[in-house]
Amino acid sequence: MDDGGATLNLGDHTLDLSAVPARMGNHGVDIGSLRAQTRTVTYDPGFANTASAQSTITYIDGTAGKLTHRGYAIEDLANSCGFLEVAFLLLFGHLPNKAELEEWQASMNRHSLLNEELKRFFDAFPKQAHPMAILSSATNAISTFYEEYHNPKDEASVIESAQRLIAKMPTVAAWAYKKSTGFPYIYPRNDLRYVANFLHMMFALPTEEYHVDPVIAKALNVLLILHADHGQNCSTATVRFVGSSQANLFASVAAGMNALWGPLHGGANQAVVEMLAEIANDPSASTESYIARAKDKNDPFRLMGFGHRVYNNYDPRARILKKFADDVLDRVEGDDPLLRIAEELEEAALSDEYFQERNLYPNVDFYSGIIFRALGFPMRMFTVLFAIGRLPGWIANWKEMTEDPATRIARPRQIYVGEESRRFIPLHQR
Ligand code: SDX
Repeated sequence: MDDGGATLNLGDHTLDLSAVPARMGNHGVDIGSLRAQTRTVTYDPGFANTASAQSTITYIDGTAGKLTHRGYAIEDLANSCGFLEVAFLLLFGHLPNKAELEEWQASMNRHSLLNEELKRFFDAFPKQAHPMAILSSATNAISTFYEEYHNPKDEASVIESAQRLIAKMPTVAAWAYKKSTGFPYIYPRNDLRYVANFLHMMFALPTEEYHVDPVIAKALNVLLILHADHGQNCSTATVRFVGSSQANLFASVAAGMNALWGPLHGGANQAVVEMLAEIANDPSASTESYIARAKDKNDPFRLMGFGHRVYNNYDPRARILKKFADDVLDRVEGDDPLLRIAEELEEAALSDEYFQERNLYPNVDFYSGIIFRALGFPMRMFTVLFAIGRLPGWIANWKEMTEDPATRIARPRQIYVGEESRRFIPLHQR
């Protein structure tokens, strides 16, 4: 078709599929009439070839290895913005002016406290509970205090919910960590900015003054920005899926947190450090032996932190993080043997035909865990940090989906390959 659409010949059907033009990247064809006209559906496990939405939030150029949020390059945002500034950009579509940013930061301080009744909520978990389980459960628990803001069609309620989620998540995360240590919870402070407040709640003790290291605060600020949004990844698509039933924002975000937890997604940052530690502690280990294992189809071992559904080039976030890792390590704790192992693995993989043929490069998770570790965070908190960073991206996508007149409840079709009909046999005859 001359509008960039397609003509589909299927059996004795000929179907004109109209174009869905993109501003940048892949154009689409609208298959909305396919099943009604041909009784046939498309089949695309993992949706590698299927767009689920039109979006103005984030663009990823997988070939060039570029990432922009609302048209701004990730490098500019990471180098020049605060995390809350980027969160504002994702949610409202423009960078805030000074007054807007001050009000936005003030609202984050205003809403950072948790209702005291929630303290008992943390007591219900065992000491060794994974903080991602606490984070997603607490997100639903928090929603029970704000049912008046659950209406997804009320713009003011959506913003109220968004502010509370972004403001309270660091408090929940820090208290989940304190719970695992047996030390007392530390309350947020209104004289501290967002990242400093989080570090204070994480590492302060009531027995002594705690001074936030500006180097660590700056590093964490960049890390959260690099995780803020990334198109229709597994967890963001989950947030949209759940929100499409008109479930409230808290419930949708809690679902996204659970999707993020998987080691193929946000859980990869923990899996990378576990992999590097395994190699460091394996006296027979060599870079070559682990690269060979990653290539061996009979070996379940994968090079965690490598590969990406969209990037067939270096993930720009990994590029920033790799440079950053050396700077942070120099400043906070000196060398880390795991970083050297990571760099050796990267060098070996990038020169190996198996990885080259499949365009497998380091992704955001390959270096992030090493930096989180250098900043003093325990490994089981890494995916929680990813979730705090991704929260504004999830909310921005949920808001865009809710406001999109084309949105319908997400309900994919299937290709049924099971039994046709079977005669029922009562239990006493089986
Ligand atoms: C994130 O989507 C996003 O944007 C996600 C994210 C975000 O910001 O939200 O960027 C964050 O989740 C990053 C990815 C973190 N996960 C990992 O690092 C886990 C390790 N990587 C993979 O398992 C894999 O690369 C995925 C999950 C990231 C992508 O999976 P795909 O697109 O389904 O690719 P695939 O599994 O089909 O792999 C294609 C080929 C296969 O080999 P062949 O069957 O062609 O022979 O590449 C191989 C795979 O075996 N392969 C790997 C590999 N990743 C892919 N082989 C060894 N080690 C790896 N890491």
